[in-house]
Amino acid sequence: MKKVALIYWPEGGNVEAVADKIIEHYGSDTITKYSIANIRKEDLAESGYWIIGGSTVGSHVWEDADDSNKWNDLFKMLDKIDLGNKIVAFYGLGDQVLYPSHFLNGLGIFQEEFEKRKANIVGQWPIEGYDFYESEGLKGNHFFGLALDEDNQEELTDERITKWLEIIKKEFK
Ligand SMILES: Cc1cc2nc3c(=O)[nH]c(=O)nc-3n(C[C@H](O)[C@H](O)[C@H](O)COP(=O)(O)O)c2cc1C
Repeated sequence: MKKVALIYWPEGGNVEAVADKIIEHYGSDTITKYSIANIRKEDLAESGYWIIGGSTVGSHVWEDADDSNKWNDLFKMLDKIDLGNKIVAFYGLGDQVLYPSHFLNGLGIFQEEFEKRKANIVGQWPIEGYDFYESEGLKGNHFFGLALDEDNQEELTDERITKWLEIIKKEFK
């Protein structure tokens, strides 16, 4: 069975708490959690399946090419790896009440960065059950990955993770 790498940022908040839940629900020791702060190129190379998790914390953070954006460290590392044989799924944390016009825009960045490197992206998630105006994290009726809102819909997170894992496990084989 191919190894699964769950790669997330930032540490210590909702994204990491959800990473732990996903690992618990996944129920297998083939999945390993890596913060971007300590993942190495070899870890990426040896895992065939990747789950990428992050939060949207304002578009300026993403657009800033500045070294303080940890995601840029990962994206730079990806340039040295062939993503053509990787199967990748995303999850994103956002807040649809406070940021209804930018809800989960970060999923759109993941999509762009992995699509241009030719990764096989799975795990799209329907937009039903959320209330927002706009998002760059979707196409048509689907988000680019699992959409979670711990600020307003915490009670739905476990069920959403369970359903999403059923979808991606069919691809992670
Ligand atoms: C400064 C700041 C900006 C945010 N901007 C957005 C945003 O543009 N879109 C969105 O959906 N959520 C936004 N959020 C909500 C976070 O994504 C959400 O609270 C998330 O659960 C935080 O997870 P973390 O603590 O692991 O980073 C923002 C939160 C903060 C504190």
